[in-house]
Amino acid sequence: MNNIRRYVCIALSALALMTSCGSASDDEGRLSVSSRTAADNSVIEAPADTSALPASAESLTETETTTETTTTTTTTTTTTASTTTETEPVPELPASDDVYLTLVNKTHMLPGDFFNVLSLTTMQNYEGNTFWVEEETLAHFQELKEDMAAVGLDCEIISAYRSIASQQEIWDEYEALYGLWYCNAYVAVPGYSEHHTGLAIDARLIRNGTVLYYMADGQTNGLEDFAAFHSRLAEHGFILRYPQGKDGITGYSYEPWHIRYVGVENAKKISASGLTLEEYLGEAEQ
Ligand code: DAL
Ligand code: ZN
Repeated sequence: MNNIRRYVCIALSALALMTSCGSASDDEGRLSVSSRTAADNSVIEAPADTSALPASAESLTETETTTETTTTTTTTTTTTASTTTETEPVPELPASDDVYLTLVNKTHMLPGDFFNVLSLTTMQNYEGNTFWVEEETLAHFQELKEDMAAVGLDCEIISAYRSIASQQEIWDEYEALYGLWYCNAYVAVPGYSEHHTGLAIDARLIRNGTVLYYMADGQTNGLEDFAAFHSRLAEHGFILRYPQGKDGITGYSYEPWHIRYVGVENAKKISASGLTLEEYLGEAEQ
């Protein structure tokens, strides 16, 4: 089989899997109907000791053995996706910057002192799963949720804060399922995921009991509802982080479910500008 045919077969297999497994909206590249997959493992058990939250600067540099701070046990993580981060220094937050504009992407690791400034809190979604979310972000998400309810849409969190270890699990699972190309398009390397901030939320939209999906090939059952959702984000302080056609700048394919809290004023400015966060911050790679 030549390379092109192999790629097409992998892509079709992945699409078939996405369809057949019927996973509900999880973060990495599709929103589809029915039950959750194991890859929705960003659901985090509430730790007994909240002072242990979240991933610290130290855990970001420890790629061999990571203390999993969101559980009461210590786990050893694999290094499959994180080996590239081992020698990189963990950045610090610039004191003068708005912390809600912190850029975490393929070239910007989570600042080590991020959670000296912001705090996480928990909430449960409609399935009873517990998620950790940054406090101000959650308050605004609740308002967004009320706003969506007014137009008949239930808006539910299906992923929010992720530890380094849970991001690694997602990477490993999706690499095994769909291959490296898929991870490069939809999954951040541990340490470089916006989900580490607690400011990013993967939202599931549900209308009249039907989960709205968006497949990697563009198939969707909710074009207008996704558009309505996106149009309401800015007034609640969120931006659509990975817009369609901006993968050359953000590094990721279109994710209509992944929203990022930046604060209301920032969100309105960014939304009005039509820019990605990278462009708005003058950090787009040339
Ligand atoms: N899906 C986004 C890029 C993440 O894994 O953080
Ligand atoms: Zn996401």
